[in-house]
Amino acid sequence: MKPFNLPSTFKLGSATAATQIEGGDLNSNWYHWGLQGRIANQESSIVAADHYNRYREDIDLMKQLHQEVYRMSIEWSRIEPEEGIWSEEGIKHYRQELTLLIEAGIEPLVTLHHFSQPQWFEAIGAWTHDKCVFYFTRFVKKVIESIGDLVNEYCTINEPNVLVNDSYMDGNFPPGKKGDMKAYFKASKHLILAHLESYQLIHKMRTEMGYSDTMVGMVHHLAYFESAKKDPFTKMSRNILDYAFHTLFLKGMVEGQLAFPIGHGYPHGKGIFCDFIGINYYSRHMIHFKFNPGMLFGEIKFKAGLTDESLNDMGWEIYPKGLYEVVEKVYRKYALPIYITENGIPDSQDQKRTKFIITHLEQVHFLIEAGVDIRRYYYWSLLDNLEWHDGYGPRFGLIEVNYKTLERSIRSSGKVYAQICQTKKIGANLIEQYIDTSSDAGALR
Ligand code: BGC
Repeated sequence: MKPFNLPSTFKLGSATAATQIEGGDLNSNWYHWGLQGRIANQESSIVAADHYNRYREDIDLMKQLHQEVYRMSIEWSRIEPEEGIWSEEGIKHYRQELTLLIEAGIEPLVTLHHFSQPQWFEAIGAWTHDKCVFYFTRFVKKVIESIGDLVNEYCTINEPNVLVNDSYMDGNFPPGKKGDMKAYFKASKHLILAHLESYQLIHKMRTEMGYSDTMVGMVHHLAYFESAKKDPFTKMSRNILDYAFHTLFLKGMVEGQLAFPIGHGYPHGKGIFCDFIGINYYSRHMIHFKFNPGMLFGEIKFKAGLTDESLNDMGWEIYPKGLYEVVEKVYRKYALPIYITENGIPDSQDQKRTKFIITHLEQVHFLIEAGVDIRRYYYWSLLDNLEWHDGYGPRFGLIEVNYKTLERSIRSSGKVYAQICQTKKIGANLIEQYIDTSSDAGALR
């Protein structure tokens, strides 16, 4: 690897999601999911990292980490704990947190839906309910009325593909359905419509408020899919899964198209419904053919035979080059600004995180050199947090959280990342110290 600089206009920071860090919310579907024993080790979201009470301390830590940008989510169930009932306390809280961030010189990017929703919404069927788009956009309207003067950048829905997959195919997320293709596609359609309506609504409202700097995007989980074999059946599996997991949502949320099998045509007209595309990238997946119509004719696995060095604590392959591939492909198609809205590693020993960050930023550098308009990098995650149904085991944080005392400490990788955020430089010293150039392990391109 050669030393490189990132442009001074390129912004670095980190990302979180409310349920994963805040604690204290009794009205979200994830609190209820925990009550049903569906989180590893019978854990609960009730305390998490207690960020709801400790956000001042956490913003101080962000300052120490030289974060320029911060992606956070607003918990719908804190704003609308019961259907149609708005919580002034919830609104006040987020206004205070956002105000403090802005005073600290950290630009917020607000996600409106990050996997969790109010239990009342879950109980009526969530994203499969006929009025779900109405309920969600009513919440969005309330949020923009409440914080639209503070925030100009929004992500509508985080990873709609993972949400429907885990809720209706794998059964890891509430309501825990397995192999329910009908619900998968019905919810996908509604999530796309919710994005399209929210995109237009946020723009309209902020324009009426006198602002012209609104940026609204989708956040897409783009995994790098590779065919495990070269035969036509495996290639077909790869293409079907790529379509159902990736393309369907890009067509829907970027182009406004309801494509097969969820519908047809352009309910809001032809156009572009994203001002940026947020990309969450974690790993490469090998696609195997499997005759299994219920599961879209394929199986997604990690590459076999990898050594510990290429695996994170959850057994996912560390594959920086995939970041280049997925971003380049989307940029080539849409030419919209790209934000890397998540990229990170669970690494409890903090042995691999610094190298992970550097090697992925190198791919960002290659993308910039190739002319891609890529503007942001949000490391996932600022703090150790609740990794959904996997509980508190995986440690993604730049900051370690001691779950007994809730004390925070910045990891060594966090300190290196802080330096990178401040200088935008990956110098020879960092490469020598963290990248094993002898085995050429860092030279991925
Ligand atoms: C999600 C995060 C999650 C992360 C690591 C993304 O799919 O948006 O909430 O913690 O990946 O699994």
